[in-house]
Amino acid sequence: MTRKILVTSALPYANGAIHLGHLVEYIQTDIWVRFQKMQPKEQVAECWYVCADDTHGTPIMLRAEKDGITPEALIARVHGEHARDFAGFHVAFDNFYTTHSPETQDCANEIYARLKAAGLIEVRTIAQYYDPLKQMFLPDRFIKGECPKCGAKDQYGDNCEMCGAAYTPNELINPYSAVSGAKPELRNSDHYFFKLSDPRCQSFLRRWTREPGRLQAEAANKMQEWLGFNENADAAEQNKLTDWDISRDAPYFGFEMPDAPGKYFYVWLDAPIGYMGSFKNLCAQKGLDFDAYWKPDSKAELYHFIGKDILYFHALFWPAELEYAGYRTPTSVFAHGFLTVDGAKMSKSRGTFITAESYLQEGLNPEWLRYYYAAKLGNTMEDIDLNLDDFVARVNSDLVGKYVNIASRCAGFISKKFGGRLAAVDGVDCEWLKPFRSAAGTIAAAYEDREFGRALREVMALADVANVVVNVRKPWELAKQEGREAELHDACSQALEAFRLLTLYLKPVLPKLAEAVEAFLDIAPLAWSDAGKPLPAGHTIKPYGHLLTRIDAKQIAALVAANTPPPAASEQPAPVAVPAVQAAVAAPAATAAPEADNISIDEFMKVELRIARIVDAGQVEGAEKLIRLALDVGEEKRRQVFAGIKSAYDPAQLIGRLTVMVANLAPRKMKFGISEGMVLAASDADGKTPGIFLLAPDAGALPGMRVK
Ligand code: MSP
Ligand code: ZN
Repeated sequence: MTRKILVTSALPYANGAIHLGHLVEYIQTDIWVRFQKMQPKEQVAECWYVCADDTHGTPIMLRAEKDGITPEALIARVHGEHARDFAGFHVAFDNFYTTHSPETQDCANEIYARLKAAGLIEVRTIAQYYDPLKQMFLPDRFIKGECPKCGAKDQYGDNCEMCGAAYTPNELINPYSAVSGAKPELRNSDHYFFKLSDPRCQSFLRRWTREPGRLQAEAANKMQEWLGFNENADAAEQNKLTDWDISRDAPYFGFEMPDAPGKYFYVWLDAPIGYMGSFKNLCAQKGLDFDAYWKPDSKAELYHFIGKDILYFHALFWPAELEYAGYRTPTSVFAHGFLTVDGAKMSKSRGTFITAESYLQEGLNPEWLRYYYAAKLGNTMEDIDLNLDDFVARVNSDLVGKYVNIASRCAGFISKKFGGRLAAVDGVDCEWLKPFRSAAGTIAAAYEDREFGRALREVMALADVANVVVNVRKPWELAKQEGREAELHDACSQALEAFRLLTLYLKPVLPKLAEAVEAFLDIAPLAWSDAGKPLPAGHTIKPYGHLLTRIDAKQIAALVAANTPPPAASEQPAPVAVPAVQAAVAAPAATAAPEADNISIDEFMKVELRIARIVDAGQVEGAEKLIRLALDVGEEKRRQVFAGIKSAYDPAQLIGRLTVMVANLAPRKMKFGISEGMVLAASDADGKTPGIFLLAPDAGALPGMRVK
């Protein structure tokens, strides 16, 4: 039967850059898809690869707000960056779309309506933390506080980075909003739930997750754990799945629920539906039949490549959604492990949080990374390590030292001595090429199985054989000996036939290099069936041109340096000559731009400086440097600001005077309360003239006036 295949990679969030961790997945998927597309049409009639940006949710909404742009502008900009990075690494989607699309919205509304009709949606009132200052409900990761277990400060609402304890935001001690610093209040709100605890869902998922081929063994086991599967347990114990909260309250960037104004679909509800949306959009472009891929009786195959961190969503929520909304479920979900660099989690401070953009900008070849990842990838959920020394060694020795070396040692003689024409490669002395051809089957099986490391080991073992044969025949010596032209012609033609076959097998991993080889050999794009079709005697090749350079370890050092942030301002030498106008609050200036960087007037205008009258000032108990100020900035409410000016001023002498404040600084939670801005003061950065000098306007200025 001919296969029709739809493949997806997880949809990257639209608020961050693509980095080398992401690329494990997109490169893995791309290799698999390219392999499928090289198969004969009678075997694989169609293989489509779709993806999209995941554009909804609170982090994206807040990020846009912080950048002073609309969420639509943010996701449009990031879409361009992501598309550029993926293309740069030769990740060839058939469609790279967005979840913020009419197709995705239609599908989401329809799935929701069908789940509702199936009795699987329930409305419940829940109490949730609300930020009174920002006037929004807070997702768990935007609530911080002290760990209820170990007391560590500034921990997130779901787990503690210090002791590893897991808890709910309600258990945090002294919780505060990570958005505004305000103390959150518990408020009630109606939420919509997908009833995963419904016995239908439970029994469906128990069955589905154990069906052959759906999940990797490791993943299937994990799911049984989550599902609480135990033949001997009683029903209550078995029913471990809790209902899934699929709504969020405004303000939220997402799709408003069709029957509940002010409620939005939670981003994880519409994200996987984005796979459908992207494919639907592709169907419109190409005239494909959407239903042939998504109806329950579909014969097409559907594969999701994902990271192990999002297995829960893809192996439980998503199949259940599809099943009860009247769609087919995924054929398989393929989860991969996480990328480590030199054995550790990617780290910004170590310079190993490497962006796709910087890799390309530093002039590194994307196919080096594709090869290295492929060599390390298997079909398990094991983490994969990018060891930077090994990366250099492996790419140089395998690709340059073994593979390219075959062509570079033989091609020149064909051009110089034989007018570019190849000899026949079917004589008795061609026996050694047989295993090169018969390997097509085993290498294909390894690719199909996502055992790319195994496929490449087989390819490199063949490359070793080819090099041994070239070493034994020594074309460079034959070329010097009269009367041995035929031998030279055969040796080089056969070596190039081996090279052609190796190129074919490497093509899913190294598509651009394969293209260059196809041009050099002057042949049509290589497909898998070409393994059995040697180039005919007399076929003329083009002159050999350089195919691939070695990696220089210096390039890696430069890449790491490019991804290492500059030292924090406090570690930088203090600016000289100009006495700095310093913000006299405890707010750290850690990310201050170096002095040499000019800013535009627009950037300056983002800072809202206003005249403030100090209407009250007092000591702060327990604080060495701070004075508490109450400021009138022409607003209804007074602002509270903590200013680090205690060494220079007595609170009493400050009351009544005017100064200048930054009025649009994000409120900051401090030990003593919230600081809602900062006042400006001058001080000598290198401390030669001690003192702190609060700024004051000339007479006539009034509270609230803008300073610019
Ligand atoms: N937006 C969600 C996915 C929605 S799919 C309907 C998301 N986005 S993500 O940008 O955080 O990650 C996208 C993919 O990249 C995920 O599959 C994730 O596992 C993978 N990776 C992100 N960082 C990674 C590593 N450091 N290593 C390997 N894969 C990583 O999750
Ligand atoms: Zn803790």
